[in-house]
Amino acid sequence: MDWGLKNRLARIIRPHSGRGVMLAVDHGYFLGPTEHLEIPRKTIQPLLPYADSLMLTRGILRTSVDEKYPIPVVLRVSGGSSIIGKDLSNEKITTSVKEAIRLNASALALSIFVGAPYEHESLVNLGKLVDEGEEYGIPVLAVTAVGKELEKRDARYLALSCRIAAEFGAHVVKTYYCENFEKVVNSCPVPVIIAGGPKLDSELDALQLTFDALHAGAVGVDMGRNIWQSDYPVPMIKAVRALVHQRVTVKEAHEIFIKNKEIEKAPKPTFETIAAQPKTKTKSTKSKKTKSN
Ligand code: 5RP
Repeated sequence: MDWGLKNRLARIIRPHSGRGVMLAVDHGYFLGPTEHLEIPRKTIQPLLPYADSLMLTRGILRTSVDEKYPIPVVLRVSGGSSIIGKDLSNEKITTSVKEAIRLNASALALSIFVGAPYEHESLVNLGKLVDEGEEYGIPVLAVTAVGKELEKRDARYLALSCRIAAEFGAHVVKTYYCENFEKVVNSCPVPVIIAGGPKLDSELDALQLTFDALHAGAVGVDMGRNIWQSDYPVPMIKAVRALVHQRVTVKEAHEIFIKNKEIEKAPKPTFETIAAQPKTKTKSTKSKKTKSN
């Protein structure tokens, strides 16, 4: 692996912990204005300080992220189908590597659809993208997409998809958590990170899923909905971050979530509430006269 590629990868999987928190906000590329991501800038901005990297399309990067903010970008470069179209697996590479370089991307992301009608095309896309990425020292994140068939998310299928992604040269693979997740991680020779999937019933459930995936060998998350569809996205990403980097327990992570949620819920002082506060006497700051000789 070349220096540049290793350097870019280290922006995503942080060397101090060997892990990473990637914030996924690329959903609009086939879902349009997903719930809680209708105005991307509003969703993304408060979460940036707690993410190691940001996964998104060029359109949302250009319009909704401040170019002066130093966040490593994982650029989604595949697409071409929508949720209301015929087949979600019919994707092509939609963004060139030249454009990715222009956007200072730290990695390229592309979906593969193993077992779907366009399996072949998506795998060939991956091979091509890895060839190009290697040429310029840009790592490739392969996303093992399941389209609308969420029930596909079992260890047998995901191990097959992740392994194929690694065989095609992906540098990191993103997949879903499942039972026997060790099987998925152990048979994939490159780092695996997990998507959160659709929003779970509670934040505690999402934290448990994250913990279990990390415990089974995942090196981090590429999480979206379970963070920004929470009523408290910042407390949630802080809790996820603590699981990933500080290796806290689920209980500790949940306490971080609750504590930060309470801080957010507490009424913020307004001009009126400050003005209404009784004035407290402040000590005179005049220094006592000292004897002069
Ligand atoms: C969609 C994606 C998403 O980035 C991925 O699913 C992660 O987001 P979430 O945690 O909401 O599942 O790649 O194809």
